[in-house]
Amino acid sequence: MRILITGGLGFVGSAVAVAALEAGHEVTILDDCSSGKVQVVERVLTITGALPRLVVGDVRDRAALNEAIADVNAVVHCAGLKSVVESATDPLSYFDVNVGGTVRLLQAMSAHDVHRIVFSSSATVYGTPELLPIPETAVVGVGLTNPYGRTKYIAELLLQDAAVADRSLRVTILRYFNPIGAHASGLLGEDPASTPTNVFPLIAEVARGARASLTVTGTDYPTHDGTGVRDYIHISDLADGHLAALSHDAEDTGGCRVYNLGTGRGTSVRELIDAYQHASGKQLAVTSGPRRLGDIAACFADPAAAARELSWRATRTVEDACVDSWAWQHHIGM
Ligand code: UD1
Repeated sequence: MRILITGGLGFVGSAVAVAALEAGHEVTILDDCSSGKVQVVERVLTITGALPRLVVGDVRDRAALNEAIADVNAVVHCAGLKSVVESATDPLSYFDVNVGGTVRLLQAMSAHDVHRIVFSSSATVYGTPELLPIPETAVVGVGLTNPYGRTKYIAELLLQDAAVADRSLRVTILRYFNPIGAHASGLLGEDPASTPTNVFPLIAEVARGARASLTVTGTDYPTHDGTGVRDYIHISDLADGHLAALSHDAEDTGGCRVYNLGTGRGTSVRELIDAYQHASGKQLAVTSGPRRLGDIAACFADPAAAARELSWRATRTVEDACVDSWAWQHHIGM
């Protein structure tokens, strides 16, 4: 396949690029470099021995899109804004990029006869889950607490409607749980452009000495140790999930499919910190703080549908992710 990866310099997109090149596909990356760095291309080359084509541009820019999409036959759409906090102060940008960018991309796909798209969605669309583990059939779009979550939900609706209107379009929506870790080489991982708000990159920063301490936001949740529980999935497992979705096409007759990409296992903040301390050999300074507004106690996937229909399941552990992230901390910024 010749695959266009929008946002391909980012944490998820670059991992998908590695997985796609390792599987023998050709890759074009479209990225505006607003958070991803151009050096990612060299790192992908070092890991895979194959060079992705890079088009620098915004996913809303018709000329850049036309250049990037020429000659591809599938798209993995990762480009988007992803800060929950920022989305509350700048909702227009979030809707413009995340929803408007998806509209532009679908228009370009139609103009270029590209009928296959895999979309980066998020478990955030489930809001406060009624049922754990969360199946894909759970209610979505209700009780979403921030514009970021709403843009993902609306982009999902948009893709579903597009697939109804155009029967040649094949859409797979992947709902990510909490992607963490780095490539096992330690050469490629998360490199936040601004201060991260997600717990894993914060833990990594404390371990490498870039941040003094971590605040555990909530120690009185109804979980086994009082801290929030999430489904942390190794970034390479997540990337493999995209390839599994794309290679499922032989039996795919069109329409829109939705899969959770998670491990099915919940890990608490305390357990995550312990795993990182073990991997890094560092004792991390940790304090306890109040709950974050809008946070939920626990969230983890029922990943059975992806196992059954895509023959995909996560194989790496949280401990593997901590070891790989720690290796990556030595390359970050280099
Ligand atoms: C967050 C977003 C979610 C988004 C997801 C993407 C919020 C409310 N939710 O989810 O919309 O889809 O990231 O990755 O921001 N924690 C600490 N200390 C911190 C930060 C977090 O203890 O400094 C705890 C949280 O309370 C939570 C756990 O760590 O229990 C995970 O938090 P986080 O990494 O932000 O992920 P989510 O809350 O799942």
